[in-house]
Amino acid sequence: MELTNRPRRLRQDRIRDLVGETSLSPADLIAPIFVDATTDERIAIESMPGHERVPLTECVARVEEVLAAGVEAVMLFGVPRSKDPDGTRAWADDGVVQEATRQVTEATEAYVITDVCLCEYTDHGHCGPLEEGLRGEADRQRDRETPLTVDNDATLESLEKIAVSHAEAGADMVAPSGMMDGMVGAIRGALDREGYEHVPIMSYAAKYESAFYGPFRDAADGAPTFGDRRHYQMDPGNAREARREVALDVEQGADVLMVKPALAYLDIVADVRREFDHPVAAYNVSGEYAMIHAAAEKGWLDLEEAAFESLVSIKRAGADLILTYFAEGVATTLNDRSG
Ligand code: PBG
Repeated sequence: MELTNRPRRLRQDRIRDLVGETSLSPADLIAPIFVDATTDERIAIESMPGHERVPLTECVARVEEVLAAGVEAVMLFGVPRSKDPDGTRAWADDGVVQEATRQVTEATEAYVITDVCLCEYTDHGHCGPLEEGLRGEADRQRDRETPLTVDNDATLESLEKIAVSHAEAGADMVAPSGMMDGMVGAIRGALDREGYEHVPIMSYAAKYESAFYGPFRDAADGAPTFGDRRHYQMDPGNAREARREVALDVEQGADVLMVKPALAYLDIVADVRREFDHPVAAYNVSGEYAMIHAAAEKGWLDLEEAAFESLVSIKRAGADLILTYFAEGVATTLNDRSG
């Protein structure tokens, strides 16, 4: 049979790698780690098999496990010893992320990125102090509750303090995740004023209000006690708005641009890759991890293959960096494969 084009010629074993378009390496991956100031021992996170909240006394050991798997960067999330309406433990000098950052940067070579947000620190679980003042007098007179939401500009002041306290503790990079307007500019200004102009900002530039964050909110104890986050996180149906959001963060000095979640938003990852020249990060979130694990537990799909394919696809879409709970597992697979 005469067939000029036979793509299968290049799918034979010895040529496939040579013509491969996308490669995944442990150096692309960032492992999220949860440090919990309320516990003395590791606590398994039920909805994220293989992950634990670790006490401060174990954070160096935990990071060493990640490094041993070949992953060189970690993202630190903290569960504070107490919470209040303003989330003041988020910028405490002896706060959980500050302590963990000091220990990890002193004891290891890991590249330490810190989460800059308030939802784990406020007693209401929102990503900043609430704007009580926005309940207008008219609403009060009509005895009608307008939903409370986060006070954007008051939150910026807190984010500045958090970012500076993390930099003081030795953070290599800060990552604001609260989707407040102007957060990147505010943090850049504060870091520069305090002499941390060398500390880059990875902005959660396009972060959607997503059902896929469920397991994380258990893990980090950061679920809102009322309402949801749609007043500050993005509407899942909006793509053009993502470009505007990202452009604003670029203007304000973001160094790395993140899209979150990853798998359901690969069009946004591809779009940001095409429109901007900054490194693009994608956050393969807790729900994306949990659903593969749940299906694998039932024997419905292969955990290792499904995890690998997810991460390759995120890279193919245009991500340079991937935050993922699969980091250690996939890095181990990659190292085994490369012998
Ligand atoms: C908090 C934050 C969230 C995640 C990272 N930082 C949750 C949220 O916005 O409610 C989610 C990560 C994940 O699901 O893995 N600002």
